[in-house]
Order: sequence, then C-alpha cells, then structure tokens
Amino acid sequence: MSYILGIETSCDDTAAAIVNREGDVLSSVIINQNKIHSDFGGVYPEFASRAHIQNIIPTINQTLKDASIELSEISAIGVTRGPGLIGSLLIGVNTALALGMGWQKPVIGINHLRGHLRSAELERNEIVYPTMMLLVSGGHTFLAYMPSKFEIQLLGETRDDSVGEAYDKVGRMLGLDFPAGPIVDRLAKSGTANIAFPRPLINQALEFSFSGLKSAVARYLASIETPVTEDICASFVDAVMEILIVKCKRALKKYSCKSLVIVGGVAASPQLREGAKEICDERGIKLCLPPLKWSTDNAAMIGLATWDYLDKEMYITPSPISRLPLTEF
Ligand code: KG4
Ligand code: ZN
Repeated sequence: MSYILGIETSCDDTAAAIVNREGDVLSSVIINQNKIHSDFGGVYPEFASRAHIQNIIPTINQTLKDASIELSEISAIGVTRGPGLIGSLLIGVNTALALGMGWQKPVIGINHLRGHLRSAELERNEIVYPTMMLLVSGGHTFLAYMPSKFEIQLLGETRDDSVGEAYDKVGRMLGLDFPAGPIVDRLAKSGTANIAFPRPLINQALEFSFSGLKSAVARYLASIETPVTEDICASFVDAVMEILIVKCKRALKKYSCKSLVIVGGVAASPQLREGAKEICDERGIKLCLPPLKWSTDNAAMIGLATWDYLDKEMYITPSPISRLPLTEF
C-alpha cells in the first residue's frame, strides 16, 4: 500500500496523520495549545512556536506507531507551507525536511487552504464539481467558484476579520475560553436572538466584513447593566448565519454548481451545517462538509491534499510563507 505522512503546524495545533489516496485515515494525532493561548483570547505566536518544538516529535512518533505500517509504504511527506504563522510553520517544515532527508522521501510543501478543501473528502466523501466553496476559519473567510478540482475563481473575501476571529473575539468579550466558536454556538442554542446586531455588507455582492459586528457586540456590552450571555450569543450567531447563508445563496444563483462545499473550523458549527443543508435541499445540490472531527485544523487533510501535488507533479520545496492564496499551490 501507499501512504502519505501529513504534517500540520500552521497555527496552534501540532498535527500528524497517515492517509491513503482514498481519504482513509490510518492514524492522526493532534496536540492543541488551547490552554496556553486561553489567557490571551487568541494565538500568541511565540508561545505557539515553542509548543510546536516540544510536541512535533512525540506527535509524529505516535502517528507512525498508531498506523503500524512499514516505512517503505510512505510515498511522500506533505507539510503545510502556508498560510500561517511563520514561526509555527518553520517547525513543521524543518522537521519534515529532516525526516525526508533521513528516510530518502520526497517532502512537499502544501497550501493549508487546499488542505481544508480536501478535508471534505476525507473518509471517502466526494466533492462533485463544479462546486461553490465557502471557507470559514480562524484566518480566512471567502467564497470561491471551482469549475473543477484544480480551477479556482475567488469571488469574494472578508475585508477585515474572519468569521472564526469574530467568534473568538466575541467569546473573549463574554469571558469564554479560547477557541470560543463551539462555546458561543452552544450558548446560542439556549438564548433568544433578541438583539438587533448589524449584518455588515449583506447587500454587497460576495464580500464579507465582520469587524463592525464585533464592535456592535462590544458597544452593546458597554451599554447594558445585566447582559444575558446566551441572548448575545444567539443574536451574534443569528447575524453571522444570515450573512453566510445570504452570500452562499447569492453565489449559487450566479454560478451553476452541483455542490456546495463548506470547510474551515467554523464548518463545525451546527447552526451553519443546518443552514447549509436547507440551501442545498432547496436547490437539489450536494452539500459537502468535512466529517466533524476534520473541520478544524488537522494533518489528515494535509496528507490527502498531498496526492493532488503528486498527481500534478508539483514537488514544491517547503519554505514557510505567511500569506498564500487558495489559487496558488
Ligand atoms: O480551521 P481552523 O481550525 O484554523 C484556521 O485555519 O484558522 O479554524 C479555527 C476557528 C476558530 O476561530 C474557532 O473558534 C472556530 O474555527 N470554530 C468554530 C467552531 N469550532 C471551531 N466556530 C463556530 N462554531 C464552531 N463549532
Ligand atoms: Zn485551518
């Protein structure tokens, strides 16, 4: 058999995984740094790098042990080369290069965003093309039309914050742990969406903006004596979902697609999953979501994306790059 060792250290998760071409995940280890960054309400880059150094070798060792395959069965090592925090990326990239040298295996630099795209195909799921892709993570928010697997047209992105960032910052204002996304979603379910937060750029083509929404929550908190956390969460999530759903619908009206792909950490949101299902049912198209455990950062998606690079003979020598658009390998 032939496998890829995927390595991911672009932000605050140290991850390794062994995957085959079909998207079966033989093993996957993720060490998160949530405790380290919780006090800051966001990722503290210097601490992230230091934790990666401590965690990378144990993570890879455990991944190899769990997969129980022969070294000869690993065809290549795929490692995230960007976008991400340079210090964090460096740890994964240098470790991968050292392993490749020692094992005499090719080491390929992978675009983290292509990894997220391919997360929707892990565990033998399939994206049908042409597709509309909504990527919603801690670092990115954009819509892209993909006529085929390797053709990408960026339609609109955020002018300021990403959705994940807005979730995390609102969570921080409410005194919640980091990352706040799942907690805000959970609290929202027991609250009432009775606060009229703005929906920035809702009528504006396919671009996004979330900083105004974030500030509106801050202003509301400053103006009220006894805020109800659940209601704030419910109203915030309501605004975010309306924006995301309206934009997806608008994009799908403009471009004929056979599916809608939603990936990135926020794709774990049950509210978003529900809203997306409604859009797809209405239009009779396929909804492609990553299995829940592969929505947030992991190395299995990086491993699966590595096959694309092998197929295209794109042996990109990994060197960390902080900004890397989806349109680039
Ligand atoms: O894709 P990801 O793991 O990392 C980046 O590439 O940025 O996304 C992390 C983001 C965080 O902002 C986190 O709060 C958010 O995804 N997130 C969620 C949920 N789970 C994670 N946001 C909303 N609802 C969730 N259930
Ligand atoms: Zn990510």
